[in-house]
Amino acid sequence: MTDQTIIRFEGVTKQFDHNPPILKDVSFEIEKGKFYTLLGPSGCGKTTILRLVAGFNEPSAGKIYFNNKVINNVPANKRQVNTVFQDYALFPHLNVFENIAFGLRIKKLSNSEITNKVREALRFVNLAGFENREINEMSGGQRQRVAIARAIVNEPQVLLLDEPLSALDLKLRTEMQYELRELQRRLGITFIFVTHDQEEALAMSDEIFVINNGKIEQSGTPTDIYDEPINRFVAEFIGESNIVSGTMIRDYLVEFAGKRFSCVDKGFHENEPVEIVIRPEDLEITTPVLGQLQVQVDSQLFRGVHYEICCNDQDGNEWLVHSTKKANVGDKIGLHFDPEAIHVMRLGETEEEFDNRLEAYGEEKHE
Ligand SMILES: Nc1ncnc2c1ncn2[C@@H]1O[C@H](COP(=O)(O)OP(=O)(O)OP(=O)(O)O)[C@@H](O)[C@H]1O
Ligand SMILES: [Mg+2]
Repeated sequence: MTDQTIIRFEGVTKQFDHNPPILKDVSFEIEKGKFYTLLGPSGCGKTTILRLVAGFNEPSAGKIYFNNKVINNVPANKRQVNTVFQDYALFPHLNVFENIAFGLRIKKLSNSEITNKVREALRFVNLAGFENREINEMSGGQRQRVAIARAIVNEPQVLLLDEPLSALDLKLRTEMQYELRELQRRLGITFIFVTHDQEEALAMSDEIFVINNGKIEQSGTPTDIYDEPINRFVAEFIGESNIVSGTMIRDYLVEFAGKRFSCVDKGFHENEPVEIVIRPEDLEITTPVLGQLQVQVDSQLFRGVHYEICCNDQDGNEWLVHSTKKANVGDKIGLHFDPEAIHVMRLGETEEEFDNRLEAYGEEKHE
């Protein structure tokens, strides 16, 4: 833990009644002023984590710290945390001003203080002048910004955002991604953002927690997680990938698709069964003679920037290729890739074991 840590979960479990736990022994740290994303499929426990941070639920076991103090039993209204809900939860009978002022009125601030704070919050979300609008006269993106203004007007240290962009169309969604990221930088507070959209997570976050089935599978920067996924779940969830079974023959030599390849991985047992990830953009189309793998083209789609080409090798593995070069269905082609493009995953490795192994690589590189 560092003095930058603002929230810490220590072995947090959450269970309703006697059902199996929804969160299982979850531990993580959140630092001040960063943009975090909880990423995972529907039902994995993202909202449950936010509700525990916000104080709408209590953990069944474990401890939650805020600025180094245990807050398990601190009620929601006493926490320096605000939430933007997926459906925005705005009051339809109040105008924009009164929606944002609501919490400040409960706190019994003076009218002039309230006016100043609401105006400032509206300026922050680029809605100056919209004070008197009714909520039903606002577009989806504007409502979303009102919901954010209502949350930041309380000057929280942490803002929780539960899939706030999921109701917006693609264009507005992309615009709001930039706006939210920019807003977080300007405010300098911690954002914990929930999404099940991996591209959104990669584009916006300082740090991503990939969650599956009530557990954090991997945490790290977007590039860490994209380049070095810990296991098949993370590799499949973050971006498109080719995942095949293989054997680590010895350090720097791996076998898959019936052939041996040089790689940059080490620290496995000899002949250890492993899984291999190669990203589609790391495969280059060439002639069968020049390629390390010989495959047959199964299908091809034009995706605007690149072709998405599906191929099969003789071992029955499927290979997805993103290429600016075209191929023809039925053609026999070669696939070329660098040793760095091969990412080897140990089966069943925990995040701690994985981190230790990667650290050992780093130390060796320094020597
Ligand atoms: N109050 C509750 N009582 C019983 N089960 C609950 C309760 N709240 C949530 N759950 C269950 O906990 C699991 C995790 O729910 P959660 O809302 O955290 O998922 P999520 O990751 O936010 O999913 P989504 O992406 O669909 O919003 C689900 O199986 C859900 O049914
Ligand atoms: Mg949810």
